[in-house]
Amino acid sequence: MKTYRDLDGPPALPVIGNLHQIRLNRLHLTLERWADRYGPLYRARLGPIRVAAVSDAAAVRQVHRERPGRFRRWRAIEAVAREIGMLGVFAAEGRDWRRHRGLVAAGLNAARVRPFFPKLAVAVGRLQRKWERAADAGETTDLCRDLMRLTVDVTAQLAFGIDFNTVETEGPVIQRHLDRVFPMVHRRINAPLAWWRYVRLPADRALDRALAGLRTEVDGIIGEARARMRANPALRDSPSNFLEAIIAAGEDGRGKFSDADIFANVCTLLLAGEDTTAHTIAWTVHGFMQHPEHFARARAEVDEAIAPAMAVEEPEQVERFPFLDAVCNESMRLKPVAPVNSLEPVEDVEILGHTIPRGTMVMVLNRHIAMQDGNFGDGARFDPERWLAGAARGCPHDTEAFIPFGSGPRFCPGRSLALLQIRTVLAMFCRNFDVEPAFPARPVEEKHAFTMMPENLLVRLSRRAS
Ligand code: HEM
Repeated sequence: MKTYRDLDGPPALPVIGNLHQIRLNRLHLTLERWADRYGPLYRARLGPIRVAAVSDAAAVRQVHRERPGRFRRWRAIEAVAREIGMLGVFAAEGRDWRRHRGLVAAGLNAARVRPFFPKLAVAVGRLQRKWERAADAGETTDLCRDLMRLTVDVTAQLAFGIDFNTVETEGPVIQRHLDRVFPMVHRRINAPLAWWRYVRLPADRALDRALAGLRTEVDGIIGEARARMRANPALRDSPSNFLEAIIAAGEDGRGKFSDADIFANVCTLLLAGEDTTAHTIAWTVHGFMQHPEHFARARAEVDEAIAPAMAVEEPEQVERFPFLDAVCNESMRLKPVAPVNSLEPVEDVEILGHTIPRGTMVMVLNRHIAMQDGNFGDGARFDPERWLAGAARGCPHDTEAFIPFGSGPRFCPGRSLALLQIRTVLAMFCRNFDVEPAFPARPVEEKHAFTMMPENLLVRLSRRAS
């Protein structure tokens, strides 16, 4: 059996290792470039942190599957989340994770999401009107910003029973606090040294302010839910959403969920549902801009399925968009919002014939796997058709190498909600709008700040011409 030391990898300097070769907001690109050069398992070093990067589909499935027993999320995620009061389902480990996971998964499962559709449709209608106003005024639209307003509204309504309506709110909204959290968490969990425990930089103070603002907002959400439950005690036995369920579980006398757990999970869901879904939709619109022929075909499909309505009105309708789904899959394959997943073995493990010592940072390169020609033929090409033809086309089409929502027991529990939102928004978009880059157009780049977002995606929307 070979050891970690036998692995190839980029040459490292004393003390700093490979830190000088990495820009944090382009981290995924560097890791992927190294995978091309050093293979499906290589080593690197971030200061004192030993890294093993994996981009072999079977090995990745194994790593994901062996959670929470043999692998956990990278330990800094738990430590950083605890410090900022967000030790919810995403960051928790072991038994804590299990008890959070049960309630969160139940609150977001498909059976809950489907009846929620009418409220989702109202939220998407608001976005449509906002974009119509922007189109009529000839304004530039920041797609990610508008979509993040939508996704927070939708998560809050499904999971907490609250209608923020930030899409139509002028002035400051809860997203301004959330926006600060992900980039700073990304910096801290990848930091070789926990500087913020010794000195507070302006960015740390900005995070503190954002967390204080978030605390006020989230305490308000929890307070409203408690008041609702006092007024209607039947909600304790039959909670109508995730928040009521976790409050009821916290008050059942067995102390299963503390106030801190409730706060942490409310924040976790707001964060987990915001950037991910918004950026996935934004990347797909970007794909449409680069491939007008796919846009035209998706539009024709939507027209046929929902005309004369201007947006989806029934949840069944979104199941009738095979080509639109194919475009979304292709977009998530090439532009996944989570191109890298940072994990850690809790004991010495074997990966691809090498012993990887416990405590190594194992970086799973989700996107790299989905782009390899051996897994998806002509893997770098944006080709929605591959999802319609599947393996029948005679070139590799390994759907197990496509894991935009992760895999194994910690697979994303928000997938159903995300897919329903994505399809509903994109159908509304195809049916109603034309799109072009705002002038002056700047290259759209991948920026990694915990999630991977399209930087510079500013557009001009117009009401569709034909
Ligand atoms: C397109 C949208 C989304 C994508 C691509 C996405 C992707 C992911 C990925 C890659 C993970 C990590 C999985 C793993 O470690 O194997 C994850 C976890 C998670 N996601 Fe999502 N997600 C999306 C939307 C949502 C939504 C809408 C919610 C809820 C409102 C949500 C809630 C969560 C939670 C709570 C976890 C942590 C699960 C755990 O650790 O057990 N996600 N997601």
